[in-house]
Amino acid sequence: MKYNKNENRLQIRAIGGIMDLTIFAGPHPQQVVQQYHDLIGRPAFVPYWSLGFHQCKWGYDNINNTIAVVENYKKNDLPLDTIWNDIDYMQDYKDFTFHNKNFEHERVKKFISDLHENGQHYIVIVDPGIKVEKDYAPYEIGLQKGIYIFKEDGKTPIKNKVWPGVTVFPDFTNTKAHEYWSDLINEWLDEFPLDGLWIDMNELATSCDGECDSDANDISTPYLPPGLKLNKQQLNMNSVMNASIWYNAHSFYAFMEGYATRNALLRKYPNKRPVIISRSSFAGTGRYNSHWLGDNDATYRSMHLSIPGMLTFNMFGIPLVGADICGFNGDTNAQLCARWTQLGSFYPFSRNHNAIGRIPQESYVFGQRITDINRSALKNRYQLLPYYYTLFYKAHVEGSTVVRPLFFEFPTVVDSFVVDTQFMVGSALLVSPALEENQTVVDALIPPGRWFDYYNGTEILGNRRLKLFTPLEKIHVHVRGGAIVPRQQDALNTAQQKKLPHNLLVALDENGNSGGELYLDDGESVDAVSSGRYTLIKYKASFDQSRYTLESHVDRAGYDNGVLGYVSFVGLKSKATKVTVNGSAAKFRVEDDKLIVDCGNSKLTKDLKIVVSL
Ligand code: NOJ
Repeated sequence: MKYNKNENRLQIRAIGGIMDLTIFAGPHPQQVVQQYHDLIGRPAFVPYWSLGFHQCKWGYDNINNTIAVVENYKKNDLPLDTIWNDIDYMQDYKDFTFHNKNFEHERVKKFISDLHENGQHYIVIVDPGIKVEKDYAPYEIGLQKGIYIFKEDGKTPIKNKVWPGVTVFPDFTNTKAHEYWSDLINEWLDEFPLDGLWIDMNELATSCDGECDSDANDISTPYLPPGLKLNKQQLNMNSVMNASIWYNAHSFYAFMEGYATRNALLRKYPNKRPVIISRSSFAGTGRYNSHWLGDNDATYRSMHLSIPGMLTFNMFGIPLVGADICGFNGDTNAQLCARWTQLGSFYPFSRNHNAIGRIPQESYVFGQRITDINRSALKNRYQLLPYYYTLFYKAHVEGSTVVRPLFFEFPTVVDSFVVDTQFMVGSALLVSPALEENQTVVDALIPPGRWFDYYNGTEILGNRRLKLFTPLEKIHVHVRGGAIVPRQQDALNTAQQKKLPHNLLVALDENGNSGGELYLDDGESVDAVSSGRYTLIKYKASFDQSRYTLESHVDRAGYDNGVLGYVSFVGLKSKATKVTVNGSAAKFRVEDDKLIVDCGNSKLTKDLKIVVSL
């Protein structure tokens, strides 16, 4: 595909096959995305806990150091919802095994049950390559069932190498392979009740080009990067699958694997929304799986690139996405890791992960100052989870984005088109991170309208560029006048947080108006939306003759969860003299530039009316 600027012409050259071209007319960028999601399928709804913080490392090579990480998070008062194990947990890198010695099975089971008791979760990696080994049941069963991808002859399973050595690969375009995969996952989870799966190396990525022991002729195309061939660290293109040859099917291999994996998890836990994080993806993957951005580097450049990466995948309909926080390849350092934790605390999928042999980078390893910075970033994330979850609900039911570029919200502001150093969370929050080493000032584009410092409520005028002082302790966030952001008191994990009071941040626009909503459910049922077991509350603020009124409208009260602790107002014209909550005089106080109204932990589903008189 080539865009010829001079001739204002887009040229597409095809090398064969059928091409469907669909044009999404918008006209608003959000509508373009919605129309696209209508076509490819809207994102699956993810469980609440998957929005919590995740810690992983390739190199947690035994159960003791894995347990220690969870304990250290707790000891350092750092939130953690999910701990992950990479391929280290496996016996000889074989799928559906735990290492006999390093991950002693009874201890793993106890670990999982302790995590669950504490409201935490456990996810491990599974690769599609099945080790060729006599008496290894997953290999033998697949062989008997004839479900592997074949060589050109259509009957001999094609072999290549991945972590376990020589491997074969299930053909996920064959429904028999779905049964095989589902049986293996279900039997395994009967013993080890994992909470989700991480599906990696599914491009497929292999060590040899085509096959390891043959240089057989393969298919090529006229368009190749110089010196490369199509089977570079890939299967041969003429390998045979049920649906077609690998040349035609390889791009949606992971899509099919993801579909099979989702169905396998749903078979095991029929009413729990599966969490599956896939490296490879295709149009529509978001219906089944989520995604992380793959191997990045522990550099400022990689950190910066994660922003366009996550924004793009939100447009692709995979809202639960993020990059490896602190960086995967190479050693990170204290400053970079702190900046990345701040930025990553706003990723929809927030996971710290790094490569084997690299220095530790958990949120507590760089001394007191950095630990404090990380703690405040992560706690701030947890406070915002009701807002994120409501955005995930909207993405699921309407097709939309959780994080989005500035031009999605301000399509007439030409300067916003090129901004990839800042982003919006929903339509309410503008995040302007520091992305360079020793950076003390962020040059931020502030779109038109009224904006307020997220932390202290100080107003800044929009429609200009602004230099924002950004010491290491601070990531800049602004709330948009006209938005209401639902929040909650933070805790060390989402299960513990569930019982804590909510609060609202009401940012008033030029006319004293503002609006927002809050979605709540049990956080995991597949049928929460379809069965109506959810609560949806809409909030609206308005101004009339020296009085602000905030009212709730309970659209649906199908899930009774939680109370409202307080409401913060920012952007009042002058000092409040009197405040009532549902007709009775209420306690209020001024903190920085915020007016904080005590709502006495009243039920969220009860109608609310706050009147602030000036
Ligand atoms: C490649 C993945 O991208 C990376 O995240 C993982 O740590 C390694 N494979 C090892 O499984």
